Amino acid sequence: MILFLSLLGFVLASIFVYLRGKYNELYWKKRGVKFHGQNKFMGIFWDFITQNRPLFQIVRELYKQYPNEPAVGFGALFTPSLYVRDKNNVQFIMQSSSFVDRGFDYNDGDQLADNVLFMNGIRWKLMRQKMTPLFTPTKLKNMYYIMDKSGRDFIEYLENNPEKRKGNTFDTLTTFCCAAIGGAVFGIGSKSTFESPFLECTRGAFYPTFWSNLRFSLSNLSPSLFKMLNLKFFKEYEEFFIGAMKQVFRQREQEGTKKHDFADICLSLQKSGEMKHESGFKMEPTDELLAAQGFFFFTAGVEPAATAVFGALIELGRHPEIQKKVQKEIDEVFEKYQNQLTADAVSEMEYLEKVLNESLRVHPPIGFLTRRCVEDTVLPVGNIKIEKGTKVYTPIYDYHHDPQYFKDPEVFDPERFTDEAKQEMACIGARYAKLQVKSGLAHILRNFDVKTEVHKGGIKFGKDQVQLRMKNVDVEYIPRKVKFS
Ligand code: HEM
Repeated sequence: MILFLSLLGFVLASIFVYLRGKYNELYWKKRGVKFHGQNKFMGIFWDFITQNRPLFQIVRELYKQYPNEPAVGFGALFTPSLYVRDKNNVQFIMQSSSFVDRGFDYNDGDQLADNVLFMNGIRWKLMRQKMTPLFTPTKLKNMYYIMDKSGRDFIEYLENNPEKRKGNTFDTLTTFCCAAIGGAVFGIGSKSTFESPFLECTRGAFYPTFWSNLRFSLSNLSPSLFKMLNLKFFKEYEEFFIGAMKQVFRQREQEGTKKHDFADICLSLQKSGEMKHESGFKMEPTDELLAAQGFFFFTAGVEPAATAVFGALIELGRHPEIQKKVQKEIDEVFEKYQNQLTADAVSEMEYLEKVLNESLRVHPPIGFLTRRCVEDTVLPVGNIKIEKGTKVYTPIYDYHHDPQYFKDPEVFDPERFTDEAKQEMACIGARYAKLQVKSGLAHILRNFDVKTEVHKGGIKFGKDQVQLRMKNVDVEYIPRKVKFS
């Protein structure tokens, strides 16, 4: 009997997988869109769950496999899903009000996921509006001294701990980024601490495990099943993070001092009462809601920022002539400002800016973006009808490595960046992140030469969801022979 029931279950499940896969295929064929036939039921997510590769590499295959298609549909269980390849279509998506949602779904009670990256619709609009004032140029200038201090403390840390100068470079860089964002945005700690519980929290929250990757895939494949199972992304970090943020808020209230940082913005929001959007939508700025924004800022300030520093160091360690040139510029600015860097001093390092732009091109910390359609629309190239609820995936890594957009894309050439506009993205923290990354690079390269070691088999990537985590490569810090006064 058990055997019979198992067999019946298997047969029914197979029929369901076949029929749903067929439905997914017909869905796109009916719209005149090429369909990626490999695993019609779960498409790229099946490969992601079953293979040891990051999702961006799996998505990359669609880019390479369908060079002449404006977009390619793929099976994703119950969610109509489309990989949009054509640049005009991507531009349309990024500017259209039909695609305002990123399409991340999270369940009620997943308090830290209720942040500006994950939020959708009017909640997102209101939250984004309230958080944008954190990174005005004046605020960044005021915060700079903290980033600078973290940079100097990081050098002292490397000097006092020679074992940190070789091996696990990325992890060591996350300690600098954590200290910088912790100090600059949250006012946490007066001496940069390089082993902090905040770091453990941000490292853990986005660290790819079988379970976190499965949960992420399910949230893309079937938001309703994800809801039904009441899955949570960041539950295990709530107690620590919200507790710590509450402490920061209360302490700041007692001190009554203004630092113009994230904590100050939070307190002034709470003082003003309910947050209101012009549409009439309202939200209460509770400690929990504000802590969730802080949580995302923290994780954004650590992982992608450390990847940006790491990518630049890898390339400089492989190109000694470029390294020398950027060190010469850094030395000149340090000397001009008597070793006291300011935000303006850092912005005088134009070649460093080019080096960073080029390394962000070669090693973007995020491999692709997603959006969800919120009202029926049509993509201009290919005249593709898109229904509300469709999830679209758009390339970053692939554009950066396509000779159509960048001549000899695998060549590291900072001189190709003369145009700021090419680096635009929907990132509130972009200006902050660039300053933090450049400040870290300036201090490191002022004090150390770097040498890159790519282990046998070349650079590899961790099995991540949207980030790029480079593996099998390390950078060694070698104290510079020149001694400065
Ligand atoms: C080098 C470091 C960073 C990189 C490469 C990066 C990259 C990105 C990208 C590509 C997006 C757009 C996502 C999309 O459109 O779907 C984004 C959004 C965002 N980033 Fe960053 N980011 C970095 C650092 C930061 C930092 C330090 C913060 C804050 C402290 C931050 C805050 C945000 C926020 C709040 C959003 C969402 C904006 C919105 O909803 O409109 N990022 N980031």
